[in-house]
Amino acid sequence: MTTITKLESKVKELSKLLEALKELNAAIDLQDIFQGILDQMVMIAEAKEATLWVLEKEKNQIVAKASSGTSTESLPTSTLSIGEGIVGKVVKTGEAELITDTENVINSSVAYLSPRSTSILTVPLLAKGQIIGAIQLNDKKDGGHFDTRDRELAVILAEQSALSLHNSQMYDELYKMFVSMIRMLAEALDARDPLTKGHSERVARYAWLIGKRMKLDAQDCFELYQAAILHDIGKIGIEDRILRKTTGLTESEYELMKTHTEIGARILSAIQPNRFFQKSIDTAMLHHERMDGSGYPKQLKGEEIPLFARIVGVADAFDAMTTVRTYSEGMSVREAAAELIRCKGSLFDADIVDIFIEILENCSYDLQSFPKTDAV
Ligand code: SIN
Ligand code: FE
Repeated sequence: MTTITKLESKVKELSKLLEALKELNAAIDLQDIFQGILDQMVMIAEAKEATLWVLEKEKNQIVAKASSGTSTESLPTSTLSIGEGIVGKVVKTGEAELITDTENVINSSVAYLSPRSTSILTVPLLAKGQIIGAIQLNDKKDGGHFDTRDRELAVILAEQSALSLHNSQMYDELYKMFVSMIRMLAEALDARDPLTKGHSERVARYAWLIGKRMKLDAQDCFELYQAAILHDIGKIGIEDRILRKTTGLTESEYELMKTHTEIGARILSAIQPNRFFQKSIDTAMLHHERMDGSGYPKQLKGEEIPLFARIVGVADAFDAMTTVRTYSEGMSVREAAAELIRCKGSLFDADIVDIFIEILENCSYDLQSFPKTDAV
């Protein structure tokens, strides 16, 4: 192959990579992103082995996050301090390092990180002028040495990848903040309402299992979990004398209790952008609606009630029946299942009840052996 055609094919690879990076930006799992970037780099640089290192600023260390052709466990170390070894040096200076004669490199940390390599190319991951890590490539597949052209190409690729990686890291942080804020809201309700502490979490787990069994996709299952964990959030706005009352509510107290649906919808409407919470808003508002129109607050019927609200309605009723409340003993799982079946079609969506009964049968009516969610 001539140099020109070789370069042309590399440019083609490069545009393929850029396409792949666009997709990577949409993914959530940071580990997949690390691996994706590294795999592309390995393919283009035709490297035998490679490792991707990420600078963890808070801890002041560099951590091996992904590898190709070798495993991060097989490295002599998976954490380095800044300046330590060739990777540490590249992270410190932001300059790529190309070593083709490893035997002559006195710096023991080079050999120490890649004892069998004869050719090592290490490039910084630079995003918006900041170093976020490095990629180290060890030996070319064909046994040759990396040259300055490999170095130039790798630097360009690393630049593109770094930007995408940086965005993904920020996205990951925002996502974690988002999830922890949902939890914080549920915890706030638990603190206000010790009588039903843990209720939201259990309802969310039941709802998620139903969603999964209905073959909703992962995104919908996550949104369902989120909607379910927040379904009673409006109780934050119910005064203590009603919320914490251990005996039955009077009619007028119950009327006030019912407003937790509208309060919940109002609280969740405050979160922007609204569209991320629309299903949670609807579920908070409509989880007490019943199929025959006997529910509240809007007396909706059948499929006028959104799917998530119908699912949470079943999960909520089941948990209310099976937990010991001050004013009720709590039914056995089988008794509660029989009650759901009795009210199938009239109060509860028949298909959802059937699915939930299947789930209960699969775990022999033993809630302890319920599968754990991996929703959040
Ligand atoms: C609740 O939302 O769990 C209590 C209100 C009701 O039972 O309708
Ligand atoms: Fe409720």
